[in-house]
Amino acid sequence: MKKPIVIVTRRLPETIETRMKELFDVRLSVDDHSMSKAELSALLKDTEAEVLVPTVTDVVDADVIAASEGKLRLIANFGAGTDHIDVNAAQKHGVTVTNTPDVLTEDTADMTMALLLAVPRRLMEGERLLRSGQWDGWGPTVMLGTRVSGKRLGIIGMGRIGQAVAERARTFGMSVHYHNRRRLHPSVEDALEATYWDDLDQMLPRMDIISVHCPHTPSTHLLLNRDRLSLLRPTSVVINTARGEVIDEDALADLLRERKIAGAALDVFQNEPKVNPRFLDLENVVLMPHLGSATVEARTEMGQKVLINIKTFVDGHRPPDRVLPNL
Ligand code: 8YV
Repeated sequence: MKKPIVIVTRRLPETIETRMKELFDVRLSVDDHSMSKAELSALLKDTEAEVLVPTVTDVVDADVIAASEGKLRLIANFGAGTDHIDVNAAQKHGVTVTNTPDVLTEDTADMTMALLLAVPRRLMEGERLLRSGQWDGWGPTVMLGTRVSGKRLGIIGMGRIGQAVAERARTFGMSVHYHNRRRLHPSVEDALEATYWDDLDQMLPRMDIISVHCPHTPSTHLLLNRDRLSLLRPTSVVINTARGEVIDEDALADLLRERKIAGAALDVFQNEPKVNPRFLDLENVVLMPHLGSATVEARTEMGQKVLINIKTFVDGHRPPDRVLPNL
């Protein structure tokens, strides 16, 4: 039987690429460059590809989907977030979309905790001090940070990753608060000892640390806008390992500069790989190049999920990780 043609836009872990070659007529990325819309459209048009495996670095909008002229049947995203894919347009063209949830939850939550500690305990500043050769030695009042234990953590978006962060934060002695579209089941809320805030504007001024874990959707686009960020306390810290588009970066940079917010740690940005230059000279900001799920284990398991989603789909079954359009 003819193997389905599968286009993979970026290099994937070797074991995954090897299995892809065994199972499908796969067109792998040779140089791992991030493709433009035009390039992706041309590739879909010129091949008989039934399956596309994109990542967060690809824009798979209505034009790109239309460029396949009806041949494309499945977009098996390598990643959990699907805001770079027009899922509505895919559905209109009869194209199924899948993603890779669960397997990156723990690693993204770990990265969140690393950032959550890095800002109040001034990890990067300390590192910079040593490397600059300016350290005069230990002192009772030198480079004091703030204690994390006993502080209030406000989680925005209490899905899998938000809950994994909540578990970790509890063991660090923090009290967990959250805002979510839906309130958690009471048994989950009890287990996490989490307090629900229906109104985000009520939660924000009462938190010491805010951590963003909601997906980027039309309703969360710039959710933390200037007005909302202005509700935060001057001692508060903002962490974002979700999507840059959820926060108004210019407003955040202004408030950080004016010391109306104490600090921020950002693993994601609005215009990746560009970083808003206004963050670059701020001492109280930690910047990471979208490393939330960047472990060998997570990336391998993400690849395995992609393989399972494609295989079940081409075998005529419903793939396990289907993504439906946002209503
Ligand atoms: C992934 C992520 O590495 O899965 C996601 O949504 O943000 C990242 O952790 C990336 O999306 C890969 O496409």
